[in-house]
Amino acid sequence: MKPYIIIDFDSTFTKVEGLDLLAEISLKGRSDRAEKVKRIREITNLGMEGKIKFKKSLEERLKLLEAKREDIDVLVKRLEKKISSSFKRNEAFFQEYGSQILIISSGFKEFIQPIVEPFGIPTRNIYANEFTYDSQGRITGFDKRRILASNNGKVKQIKALELKGPVYVIGDGYTDYEIKESGLADKFYAFTENVKRTSVTDVADHITPSLDEFLYKHKLPMAISYPKSRIKVLVLENIHNEAIKIFKEEGYQVERVNRALEETELIKKIQDVSILCIRSKTQVSKRVLEAGNKLHAIGAFCIGTNQIDLHAAMDQGVAVYNAPYSNTRSVVELAIAQIIMLMRRIPERMRAMDQGEWRKSAEKSNEVRGKVLGIIGYGNIGSQLSVVAESLGMEVVYYDIIDKMPLGNARELPDLESLLKISDAVTVHVDGRQSNKNLIGRSQIAKMKKDSILLNLSRGHVIDFAAVKTSLENKKLKGFSADVFPHEPANNKEEFKLPIRGYENTILTPHIGGSTLEAQSNIARFVPDKIMKYINAGNTYGSVNFPNLRLPDQGDAHRLIHIHQNISGVLAQVNDTIADFNVNIVGQYLGTNERIGYVITDINKIYHKDLMKQLRKIEGTIKVRVLY
Ligand code: NAI
Repeated sequence: MKPYIIIDFDSTFTKVEGLDLLAEISLKGRSDRAEKVKRIREITNLGMEGKIKFKKSLEERLKLLEAKREDIDVLVKRLEKKISSSFKRNEAFFQEYGSQILIISSGFKEFIQPIVEPFGIPTRNIYANEFTYDSQGRITGFDKRRILASNNGKVKQIKALELKGPVYVIGDGYTDYEIKESGLADKFYAFTENVKRTSVTDVADHITPSLDEFLYKHKLPMAISYPKSRIKVLVLENIHNEAIKIFKEEGYQVERVNRALEETELIKKIQDVSILCIRSKTQVSKRVLEAGNKLHAIGAFCIGTNQIDLHAAMDQGVAVYNAPYSNTRSVVELAIAQIIMLMRRIPERMRAMDQGEWRKSAEKSNEVRGKVLGIIGYGNIGSQLSVVAESLGMEVVYYDIIDKMPLGNARELPDLESLLKISDAVTVHVDGRQSNKNLIGRSQIAKMKKDSILLNLSRGHVIDFAAVKTSLENKKLKGFSADVFPHEPANNKEEFKLPIRGYENTILTPHIGGSTLEAQSNIARFVPDKIMKYINAGNTYGSVNFPNLRLPDQGDAHRLIHIHQNISGVLAQVNDTIADFNVNIVGQYLGTNERIGYVITDINKIYHKDLMKQLRKIEGTIKVRVLY
């Protein structure tokens, strides 16, 4: 037997309370508008929480409203734009089940009917109050003879309907719960997409953060493949609030722990998590990944991904994302600042000033304009530094082990030696590969110009600090700066040790090249964006361990995602299985790497649900999901 679904209108079907909005319209231009609207909201809330009787709340609100008939037309236009998002996207469900849906509301038919009828809900299924008007069209009150106008009106109204079959109630107010409490409904679903009242959620049989959750629970047709509220995100290590906000706005459930978790703690927590967000301190081991049986993606809100066992992540079908260039600009700005400071010999002047020494002199102090900047490693940071340095009038040369397109007027040099010989400032921006250990040592410094400066903001092991020490002592180098070190303190309490601490024209910074509020907020937006494109559409572009696919919109198709071990014949089996079910393929995309294959197949929407079961049975399958 098909269930009856009773749905509340205000703050459920629409995002707002109709009367609150009507007050804003009818009191427009009045000096007491804000005060009255506020009072109306307060009365609405007291009523919704069951703290004052309904009839009283309605009478008081209508008195404050001073609305007219023509205000209702404006209200309807505004309400059309405020239909709850999950109702709007599930319009097809309403069109199919309209006759089983009853709108039971203490609101007013005059504005409810024009909103719900286009969804296929017949007029006879709309139960609400009606306004009364005077001869000039002013709202004077409400028709007190209607059942819904009385206290406990919803319960009385449903009793009068004598519904046969299962009855479910969806609403955000206490009066919606009272229907279940009185024994007239089988279940009450607290709808929290717009408003969350603990007095209501505490008594609900189930909380439905959107209509999708209700439809999913009852296996009713729904517009999306899986309710977003069921996707749990675990956010560790104090990740910026912006990321939390983005995930919440998407409708995901977010749990936050403001520190890194040890392996055993993480294994416990990860069981029902779909998305794990970390920074550099949380180690995501094979054991953690194996325990994450619902895990789809990991967001590393930093650059490096060494803390994650990327192979194990692939074997579990977990896509990993990081933020490779969200802090590029911050590093570039610090490099520029350090170049200028060292060229002017500011650090040694500052140290002298702190000791009470006035060292005013132009000796060996230079502008950067016209000087040669040698950039080693022309990647994200190196190439952006090149552009900013040129805008200061520097002449830029660079050396990279792979061919890189020069930006602006920068010149590529054939080898490191040529760069070292002609540069006034040498700055290192290579990646952390092992072969870069001591890339700049004694023999390289020996090739540098006398009184040139050297900077390293890349990785600590790239510089031989003993060689730097000698070159500062024998005045070969005019200045030196480092932001990264072979041994960095594990926390702010541990002492920082280095043989060149306190040297004259040096700048040592505690690995803060990328540490700006702007970079943190860029990372907080970049990583969730990539993860959501993966969860919602299967896009893997930018993933560090999955074959990178940039997919077109899936249009009016269902998208099957099949992740498998990279063994031969799987794609053929996927296609044979789809063909066995007589399903038409609209588009197909494949990417592989050394461990996994990633096949996306867009298919026509009508197919037997056993198709998914069969796809899961193909040997080597790691994960299968469907998106629509
Ligand atoms: P990237 O990977 O985009 O660029 C690195 C470039 O260096 C590549 O073009 C590569 O071909 C080149 N390269 C590697 N070895 C080389 C060698 N021996 N000689 C010449 N070129 C070589 O990396 P991105 O994003 O530009 O970062 C650069 C470095 O900065 C990385 O080591 C990164 O870890 C570090 N970094 C430091 C931060 C800080 O807070 N100080 C913040 C962000 C990044």
